[in-house]
Amino acid sequence: MANAWQILEQNTLALTLVPIQIRELFFLDKAACDIYNQESGQYTLLLKKNSFVNKNVLKELITNHQTLLFVKENERRYIKEAQQENLREITRSLSMGDGLENGRKQMGLLTVNLGYLYEDPNDEGTLNLQYQSLRNLCSFLLHNQDLWRRLYTDYLKQKHHYVLSQPMIAAFFLLGIIKNTHALNEKDIETLFITSYLKDIGMSSIPIEKFNQEDLTEHEKQILAGHARQSVRILKGRVPLGPAYLQIIANHHMFSHLGMEKYQKPQEDDDDQLGETVLGFETMMVSVTDIVAAMISKRPYRSEKKVRESLELIKLLIADQYPQEFKCIVIYFKNLFAV
Ligand SMILES: [Fe+2]
Repeated sequence: MANAWQILEQNTLALTLVPIQIRELFFLDKAACDIYNQESGQYTLLLKKNSFVNKNVLKELITNHQTLLFVKENERRYIKEAQQENLREITRSLSMGDGLENGRKQMGLLTVNLGYLYEDPNDEGTLNLQYQSLRNLCSFLLHNQDLWRRLYTDYLKQKHHYVLSQPMIAAFFLLGIIKNTHALNEKDIETLFITSYLKDIGMSSIPIEKFNQEDLTEHEKQILAGHARQSVRILKGRVPLGPAYLQIIANHHMFSHLGMEKYQKPQEDDDDQLGETVLGFETMMVSVTDIVAAMISKRPYRSEKKVRESLELIKLLIADQYPQEFKCIVIYFKNLFAV
C-alpha cells in the first residue's frame, strides 16, 4: 500500500509532467533529462538524466505499445535542444562514413524535428534547420540511389506518426521519380523536394493527436481543407521558395475532387498574391507522389492500400496527359518495391 510520501510524490509528478512521444528519444546517446513512464496509473522513473539511452528498453516499450513517456515540463526543452543539435551534427557529416546509417539518421531526425516545427511553426531556428537539413538530404539522396530501397524500408520501421512521416515519404518518392525523368536539374529538384516536404505545414493548426480519429469537428475539417493556403502563409518570406513554388503548395491537392471533375481548377491568386503561373508538371508530380504516399501508408482508422492500387488511381489521373511521366512513376515504384 502506498505511503503518504509516495502519494505526495505521485501528485507532484502528475502536476509537473508533460507527455512526449518515445520517438523523441531516437538517436539520442543519453537522456537529456529525467524520463518517466506510466504503469497502472503510477509514474516511474525510466531513464535518469545523462543515463545511456537503452535502445532495447525503447524497443520493448514500442513493442508493448507504451509509446507515451513523460518529462518535467520545464525540462522538455533539453530534449528538443539535444535533437536539434543531433540533426545539425548529422547534417554536417552526412557524406562521411556509413551512408546508410547517416541517411537513416538524417531522415529520422528531420522527422522528429518536424514535430517541433508543427508545435511552433513560427520558430525561425527550427524552420531554418529543417530547410538546411533538407538541402543536404536531397543532395545525399541524389548521389546515393543504391541506398533508396534500404533507406525507405528502414524509415518505415521508425514508425513515426503519419502526419510527420507523410511529408518525408512523399518528398522521397518525388525526388526519385523526378531524378529518373531527367526533366529537372539538381537545383530545381532540390527546391521541389523542399516544396513537397513543407507543403503540409499548415496542418500544424490542428494538434497531431487529433489526426488519430477519423471524425474531426466541422471547425477542424475547415482548417484541414484550408491547410495548403495556411502552409503558404506560414512559409512565405521565411524560406527561399519563390512564388511559383508557393503556388505549387497552394495547389498541391489539385486532384482532391476526383469523381466530380478530373482536374480541380487551380486556386486563383487571392489575397496572397503569389504571382507567377502554376507549374503544371511540377504541381502534378508533387500531388501524385503525395497521393501514393498517403494511400500506401496505414492510418489509425484505415489499412494501407497496395502500391498497385495507388498506381491504378494515378493512371486514371494523369496517364492521358502525362504518359511518359506515368511510365517513369511505374518504373520507380517497381524498382523501389521490387515488384
Ligand atoms: Fe496536403
